Amino acid sequence: MSGLPPEPATTGFQPPPYPYDRLDGVKARATERFAADGGLVDCSIGTPCDPPPPAVLAAMASSGTERGYPTSQGSPAYRRAAAGWLARRFGVRVDPDTEVAACVGTKEFVASTAQYLRLRNPDRDTVLYPAVSYPTYAMGALLARCRPVPVAELPSGGLDLASVDRADIERTLLLWANTPANPSGALTDMDGVARWGRGHGIPVFSDECYAEFTWDGPPASVLSAGVEGVVAVHSLSKRSNLAGVRAGFYAGDPDLVGFLLEVRKHAGLMVPGPVQAGGAVAYDDDAHVADQRHRYQERLTYLSGVLADAGVPTPLPAGGFYLWVPVPTGFGHGGNGGAWALTEALAMEGGLLASPGDLYGPDGAGHVRVAVVQPTERLELVARRLAGRRLPPGPTA
Ligand SMILES: Cc1ncc(COP(=O)(O)O)c(C=O)c1O
Repeated sequence: MSGLPPEPATTGFQPPPYPYDRLDGVKARATERFAADGGLVDCSIGTPCDPPPPAVLAAMASSGTERGYPTSQGSPAYRRAAAGWLARRFGVRVDPDTEVAACVGTKEFVASTAQYLRLRNPDRDTVLYPAVSYPTYAMGALLARCRPVPVAELPSGGLDLASVDRADIERTLLLWANTPANPSGALTDMDGVARWGRGHGIPVFSDECYAEFTWDGPPASVLSAGVEGVVAVHSLSKRSNLAGVRAGFYAGDPDLVGFLLEVRKHAGLMVPGPVQAGGAVAYDDDAHVADQRHRYQERLTYLSGVLADAGVPTPLPAGGFYLWVPVPTGFGHGGNGGAWALTEALAMEGGLLASPGDLYGPDGAGHVRVAVVQPTERLELVARRLAGRRLPPGPTA
């Protein structure tokens, strides 16, 4: 007996640390530091802070749908409301009976779709996704025992699909796109992506959960070039401040939607009935979205000015509610250290918690992301703390 603990028995999948858990250390330090001065202003996660429409809450409270199981596809009213919104907002027509189905928020859909498609197409083992993006695209590939292969992004925004290796294309099960993009806010030409997918026989899944918050031009959907080979994924979390109730939908090619619906029925994935009732009301209303757009625009402009005054010039995004802040020289530009050093400085000097860009892929390491999901009064607190300061450290002697 050596007295040593036994070797771990498995070399199987070990989940990596959850991205935002990596912020726990800096979050705790900044929380303590600003405890007596208004507290930490947490802009690290894109979780809405503003109220959902009262009519949505009323519909959830009075739907009478609590007793029976909901369908995985979603009620006709929910699907019709989703299809009606797609027609109003994007000018696209989908059949609510065969081309639309509900999902439990969209994260579960993003995380599970590769796994389900691989069951149908076991010879394909590769998932393409934007190199700097929401981490769940790559995680969904890993959960499906697929290879996550990042696609470089064009300087103008969008996917550089011409750079994808021929050998990777031949193995690709699906492609994820995201417009407006989290974290950069960049817009993607989805007609071009759809054409590329059709040309290579690769299904395109377009995550459009920030579409309502498109600032440069009208919102766009992959569905505007037809449903063949494509699926758009939408969420009420951001659009209607309903992240807590978990409601979204997927819409597009009836073959893809139909296959996923059948599998998801077996997996027991259902949006609760009261949530569907509220969701239908939310999709029927555009006025609350106009108010929310105004709030985010005001906060993006305000905080970008605060950061510029502190020596951190920050462009406004083309879409979304994130500032994608370039790390200024002086923070170890371009390396992981740069993003983490700027995150630390914003937290410890401004009491502002951002997220380092490498949480969204190694190519994000020259940026930090700030979600403007705090009321303007809270952002003013950050402005007061940073007033008169220049954040980039001077050159070391
Ligand atoms: C790009 C993107 N897709 C999907 C989601 C998931 O949102 P939900 O599961 O609340 O619909 C998020 C959440 O932040 C996101 O940023």
